[in-house]
Amino acid sequence: MNLRPKARYDSVFRMLNPEGRRGKLRLDKNENVAGLPEELIQQALSGLTAESIAIYPEVQPLYKKLAESLDLDEANLMLAAGSDPAIKSLYELFVGEGDSVVLPKPTYAMFHVYARMFGATAINIQYGKDLSLDQGAILDAISPDVQFVAIANPNSPTGTVVDEGFLRQVVEKAHSAGVVALIDEAYYPFYSRTMLPFVRDYDNMVVTRTFSKAYGLAGLRLGYIAGSESLISLLKKVRPMYEVTGVAVHFGTFILDHTDAVDTYVAQVGEGKSYLASEMNKLGFATHPTHANFMHVRIAEESLRDAITEGLAARDILITGRQGPPLEDCIRISLGPVEQMKPVASGIAEIIAESGTK
Ligand SMILES: Cc1ncc(COP(=O)(O)O)c(C=O)c1O
Repeated sequence: MNLRPKARYDSVFRMLNPEGRRGKLRLDKNENVAGLPEELIQQALSGLTAESIAIYPEVQPLYKKLAESLDLDEANLMLAAGSDPAIKSLYELFVGEGDSVVLPKPTYAMFHVYARMFGATAINIQYGKDLSLDQGAILDAISPDVQFVAIANPNSPTGTVVDEGFLRQVVEKAHSAGVVALIDEAYYPFYSRTMLPFVRDYDNMVVTRTFSKAYGLAGLRLGYIAGSESLISLLKKVRPMYEVTGVAVHFGTFILDHTDAVDTYVAQVGEGKSYLASEMNKLGFATHPTHANFMHVRIAEESLRDAITEGLAARDILITGRQGPPLEDCIRISLGPVEQMKPVASGIAEIIAESGTK
């Protein structure tokens, strides 16, 4: 039979994850590229038993620990299998056929995909060539005619941030228009300013965070959404029966007791960022300032961008070579400790020498 899924799902199928990244230096999806220290992993694993796997997940310990560490109530939180499914639940709850959503462009790709999937139209506010965001245009676009506004801070893929004053204006305008505002903090704590405490003040605002990036648990799929009690209780009505796995709960609870390892990694990524920027500058390439664990390197010639992406792939180093506006003249490299950045910098230098350009 010729299966005919809805046409609007085409873009979803195009985004399916490529396989075969294991064992490579994965600088293409902004994960924790060093992984948590092996002794911590072993310590966490030793706490797992046959019962931990056989039993349906008992999520309470993680809700409790998370609420304590964030200074929120458990009722302000919903766990999810990554921040992405939490975002999808939000769309499921609030965005439907014929609705409008306000989104910067480019931003986290799934914001746009879910808009299409749920039949909504995106009002796109395009980033400028200099990666500036027209904040006035975002505020102007928020009206009672739209359902939803989402801002990732830091934004992916631009790596840029907006300040708290602007985010509060967004949330307040959205509040008076009856619009739900999502602040996506996937790159916390690479950038440590947060809107999280304000979930108590604004019942239309939610904040999503993930354990996939700095916390090094992308493979376990764990994230959460924080919001007012009333909004979170609505979300819990549409979430899957079990929101996360028992193993994810175990590791999430464990890592919240070992956040020093996360702090160390964040500091190492800061060093890796300075190192890579300076190596790229030495080669004559400008880099965009970034507040997340990835960096854009400007390489004007398309052929050289392709040569670098392919040359690094041949060295088992994965980066993102092709991007849409305004980053079409950049390659994107996930950041890690200096140790992980050295082969990238030396690989790029070799490829340039081989290609005889620049
Ligand atoms: C801005 C942003 N939000 C959300 C996500 C989803 O991450 P996860 O589902 O792993 O929590 C990503 C992943 O790259 C992201 O860049």
